[in-house]
Amino acid sequence: MNKYRAGFIGCGGIATAHADGYRHLNNAEIELVAGSDINPAGEKAQFLASEHGIRLYEDHLEMLEREELDLVSVCTWPRGHCEATIAAAENGAKGILCEKPMAVSLDEADRMIEACEKAGAALAIGHAHRFSPQAVQAREWVRAGEIGEIAMVWGHCTLDLMNNGTHVIDLINYLNGDSPPIWVMGQIDRHGKIEGRRNHPDMPAEDMAIGRVGYSNGVVGFIELGERASQSFTFRIIGSDGVIEVNNPDGPPLKMLSSYRSNGWHVPELNEVYSNVCRELEELVSTVEGRAVHRSEAKIARVALETIMGIFESSARRCLLEFPIDVGDFALERMIEEGMV
Ligand SMILES: NC(=O)c1ccc[n+]([C@@H]2O[C@H](COP(=O)([O-])OP(=O)(O)OC[C@H]3O[C@@H](n4cnc5c(N)ncnc54)[C@H](O)[C@@H]3O)[C@@H](O)[C@H]2O)c1
Repeated sequence: MNKYRAGFIGCGGIATAHADGYRHLNNAEIELVAGSDINPAGEKAQFLASEHGIRLYEDHLEMLEREELDLVSVCTWPRGHCEATIAAAENGAKGILCEKPMAVSLDEADRMIEACEKAGAALAIGHAHRFSPQAVQAREWVRAGEIGEIAMVWGHCTLDLMNNGTHVIDLINYLNGDSPPIWVMGQIDRHGKIEGRRNHPDMPAEDMAIGRVGYSNGVVGFIELGERASQSFTFRIIGSDGVIEVNNPDGPPLKMLSSYRSNGWHVPELNEVYSNVCRELEELVSTVEGRAVHRSEAKIARVALETIMGIFESSARRCLLEFPIDVGDFALERMIEEGMV
């Protein structure tokens, strides 16, 4: 097993989950070295430092220059993701796990991808649900034709597109075999004028969003978020010969009704995993070592951001948009500046 020096940019809640993940990797020995945070004296950064014995910095550039980190977790609020990822790549990181949302614009996402390619760094985005046993099994059932031809994947959750929405869209993409999207139509409502919420204090958000996405394999994705959406992080895959439910809050994490199987709902045994974050960090190490392609590599994650921007822009222009979505800025912010929402 190879040894790696790992560190954090942003030392709050999700950085603690990354730290726990690093400690349980099966394919590498990790030395947790340092973290940087704009508020190093804050409770969360202090907790991370004392739990894991890492040095704290206020300036991530100073940390990156001094500590020669192999693996960097970018765990800042969303507006910090782009600059921190590029800085990590340019300072020698071999693997970077940047939290979701990947960035606040497609221009930023493209700069991140370019910088990591140039530096030879593997960049993965924290769409950790791709690693949940129920999602992995559901994707396999879909691939194997267990419910016939897929017509629709419906996903919903609380909060907004840039927060939980990126998980919802990304998991629909995953369950649908990452078939490329070809069109999107959406609508948002921002009656609450939210300017920062929870762990996205640095950006506005909508109260509700819906999106409909057409994929090149003929499947339609349906996304509902926020106030009047069903509040659980749940997915229904509707096929010509059955239905698969993922994360139904009233049931097992995965079940399938299929005309190819008798006796009603089929509920599989799922292998317990330590944590989805741990698995995504393991896959990052495998990618750095050339033994895997990360299932949440930056170019795959960018599709979720492109779809989000497509929903905002479709709402602004009141029409369906074809991919690629030609929106380089943070479309929601522009809509607010123009007094549209
Ligand atoms: N993958 C997941 O399921 C998941 C879960 C939770 C959070 N997240 C994402 O992780 C990110 C952070 O969320 P959190 O819950 O840890 O938030 P948090 O508020 O608990 O922690 C963020 C930390 O980053 C620091 N910070 C903010 N901007 C910074 C910058 N530019 N440079 C350095 N430090 C900075 C803050 O001071 C804070 O300590 C968000 O983008 C969020 O969407 C992902």
